[in-house]
Amino acid sequence: MPKPKIYLTYPLPPQCMRFLEENSELEYNSEMRLLNPEELAAGIQGKQGLCTLSSGIGAEVMDSNPGLKVIANFGVGYNHIDVVAATARGIAVTNTPGVLTDTTADIAWALLMDVARRVSEGDRWVRGRNWGAWDPNLFIGADVTGATLGLLGLGRIGKSVVKRAKGFDMKVLYWNRTRLSEADETELGIQYVEQDALFQESDFVSLHVALNEGTKHLIGEQQLRLMKPTAFLINTTRGPVVDEKALVRALQEKRIAGAGLDVFEREPKLEPELYEMENVVIPPHVGSATVGTRLKMGMMTARNCVAGCLGERPPNIVNPEIYG
Ligand code: GLV
Repeated sequence: MPKPKIYLTYPLPPQCMRFLEENSELEYNSEMRLLNPEELAAGIQGKQGLCTLSSGIGAEVMDSNPGLKVIANFGVGYNHIDVVAATARGIAVTNTPGVLTDTTADIAWALLMDVARRVSEGDRWVRGRNWGAWDPNLFIGADVTGATLGLLGLGRIGKSVVKRAKGFDMKVLYWNRTRLSEADETELGIQYVEQDALFQESDFVSLHVALNEGTKHLIGEQQLRLMKPTAFLINTTRGPVVDEKALVRALQEKRIAGAGLDVFEREPKLEPELYEMENVVIPPHVGSATVGTRLKMGMMTARNCVAGCLGERPPNIVNPEIYG
């Protein structure tokens, strides 16, 4: 049987590249940048599979190659892919769930600790050769231990954050579209509240909802106005869940104390004011960026893509309805 033809939009870890090269006729974009729709359409000509990350994939890209069988996303979030259009065309869409849960919970925790205890801010200050003497008033931060954490969304990653919070004796509030059973709430030691109460009562609000039409700008002016002036916002899900301009206003007007953001509304661009603010921690979307996790994500993406090309049901299918 001839090997399937696959187009990859970005180089993956070497082991994943070897797998794809052994199991497909692979073509890939070696430039470290996201491709636009025209480049994607050109790349997938004659291919059955597309392995991709982050580039927007709409109906026009899919229609440029009626032979396309699978779009394999490197990442768990697939909001940049028009899944409805893919399903209508019988194209499988796959993602990489599960393997990045703890790694992403770790980055949420790192941001929370960093912004609360002003680690990055202090680091910049020390590097600026500003440190004269130990001073009891230097870089006074917020307590994490014993504070109240509000989780908006409680999927795999949210639950993994709960475990970390328990180690810090935190009171954990949550809101989720579907409330857990009382038994599960008791087991996790968390308390369900309505959204407004979550914003009002939390010292840290951490976002764990997926991005979709219902969650775009879920955090805007109104929600930020409910938060305490001493509270922090942590976002490790998707940038557009937060109205970034409203967040900047809230930070400028000191209506909240700070933010830890791994994701942004118009990545890789940020609202310009954020670059200048000391009370925000802003890594470049590194939630899943560890050696082990990226390797697992890459292998899952590659396996999903090869399976989809061969007409097999990929292990991590987002739109299983295409198989009837
Ligand atoms: C990363 O952001 C992912 O969705 O996996």
